Amino acid sequence: MEPQDESESRERREFIKKATALLVGGVAAAVPLAAGLPVLLDPLRRKAQRSDFIRVTALAALPSDGVPRKFAVIADSSDAWNKFPQVPIGAVYLRRTAETGIQAFNVVCPHAGCFVDYLPERGYYICPCHNSTFTVAGSIRDKKSPSARGLDALEVEIRNGTEVWVKFQNFRAGTPEKIPLA
Ligand code: FES
Repeated sequence: MEPQDESESRERREFIKKATALLVGGVAAAVPLAAGLPVLLDPLRRKAQRSDFIRVTALAALPSDGVPRKFAVIADSSDAWNKFPQVPIGAVYLRRTAETGIQAFNVVCPHAGCFVDYLPERGYYICPCHNSTFTVAGSIRDKKSPSARGLDALEVEIRNGTEVWVKFQNFRAGTPEKIPLA
């Protein structure tokens, strides 16, 4: 009787050891999988970071005095599951300039991503979040500005002589360099 008891007890110990190993292994595998799921399943994260030219407005909509005007950027968008026709994907300031014709800036502050405002009575841009200020030409106005770079200029094309097209892009915040988001 005694040897059989001992054998059963050994089998039980082996079983518990294997079950514990399986459980620990399963938890270890599940943690990174669970952490990755939101990224995989969140359709908003998959929304395309646009980098193509988009028609923004008519040339006639820009005043000739060089004062910037804000425009929404509207385009088709999609994620892993859905298509969204003609939705706002960002906004830009456009202004006429003597040298190049049209200048375009992404409205997003390069410091930490708030939207900058243009103050026509003062003639410069200000960010309401931490008071970075930018000249009308987009450069840093105040040396103590928390933003490490000026406003992010975007490529502009005038097509058919009447339409303003902008290569819309977003850039990484908080860096002195202008790094496009993939
Ligand atoms: S986000 Fe604009 S100054 Fe901080």
